[in-house]
Amino acid sequence: MVKVDLSGAKSFFIGNGPDYSAAAAAHKVLAERTGAGADFLGWPALPAKIRETELDRIIAAADKIRSRSAALVVIGIGGSYLGAKGAIEFLKPDSGAGDTRVFFAGNGVNPDSLYDVINQLGSCDFDVNVISKSGTTLEPAVSFRIFRDLLNAKYGSKANDHIFATTDAKKGVLKSLAEANGWESFVVPDDVGGRYSVFSAVGLLPMAVAGIDVKKLIDCAVEEFKSLDERNESNPAWQYAAARQNLYAGGKKVELLACFDPKFRWMAEWWKQLYGESEGKDNIGIFPASVEFTADLHSMGQYIQEGERILMETVVRFDECLSALEVPYENSDADGLNYLAGRDLGEIGRVIENAVIEAHISGGVPCMTLTVKKRNEEGLASLICFFELACGISGYMSGVNPFNQPGVEAYKKNMFRMLGKPGAV
Ligand code: PA5
Repeated sequence: MVKVDLSGAKSFFIGNGPDYSAAAAAHKVLAERTGAGADFLGWPALPAKIRETELDRIIAAADKIRSRSAALVVIGIGGSYLGAKGAIEFLKPDSGAGDTRVFFAGNGVNPDSLYDVINQLGSCDFDVNVISKSGTTLEPAVSFRIFRDLLNAKYGSKANDHIFATTDAKKGVLKSLAEANGWESFVVPDDVGGRYSVFSAVGLLPMAVAGIDVKKLIDCAVEEFKSLDERNESNPAWQYAAARQNLYAGGKKVELLACFDPKFRWMAEWWKQLYGESEGKDNIGIFPASVEFTADLHSMGQYIQEGERILMETVVRFDECLSALEVPYENSDADGLNYLAGRDLGEIGRVIENAVIEAHISGGVPCMTLTVKKRNEEGLASLICFFELACGISGYMSGVNPFNQPGVEAYKKNMFRMLGKPGAV
């Protein structure tokens, strides 16, 4: 489980501090499915369900792709790609020469980015996993048409065997196309929204192709959601949700998710979508932002320390690094670093983390820390389950429906009108 430390936020809390009775009430509404968006509460049961249903087929499909192709192109946007991208970057499974590479496309319409993927594919064998719950999202649909052309040109009548579709069980253009062409298909469950779908085939197929032990990940997630069902103040999801809502009420409008491990960068992107799309509505909501330390201390550090005092900071920490590297001793000590000689970089990093947290608190930034043991499958499952549950609780505490995204339609309406889609006004 994630360990939450609120000591660095304590002096900033307003009123009586985090409202755990509100967190308890929000958790109850979520668990009993009595609140807004209750039709999209299938995600806490998703790991257990996927283990019983599609997991073996996902692993078999991944094995097939890994055995025959140098690359998998994953086409999707938002919740249909960020979880897999985040997990793959986070775990970075050892990719030896000849291992299947995973590329992401369709998360925009920039031709240069698409060309970049196409160029990297070169003449190698590849498969495509197109992911869209609605099956109608323009950006992935356009990319998919381009990659279908490439597959047809390369594999001719065998092209359909290289396409894997992850979409709605019953409806949508992608579902119809998959059925008509005989593509192997996986399901985005009806009761799971895109940004909560990482433990479905949406996240798991790309992860498995990248070499992640998805069985282990899912086993850990099943246990994690069980532990997070605890209904008292020691529930870390309650602590985080209640603390951030209290800080928000006290004027801390922006939450900076910080991590000292650059491999967390894409998980932070996943987190931003999860929280931004879930909470930013009805003209309220904490703005989720992220920083990567120590690099960003030399770019954003000034603002964090002395800019407008609207920030709260959440630092993701790991008890252990995966590797050890010592600072070497040098006789001359010309660079004056012998005071660090023999010390492990991981240990030095943890000292720096403490120094940064102390500085930010003294500069007026409340700081919460979230700690897991290691950057491995277990740590990843802990973080995902924790963030998902805390997000649902936090959203309900603030009075919004954390499971819809009505605001996303505004740009689409203009886009379709301006692009001349038939029927668009
Ligand atoms: O969380 C969400 O529902 C969204 O971010 C979607 O994942 C995103 O818009 C992509 O939608 P779709 O999977 O329908 O193409």
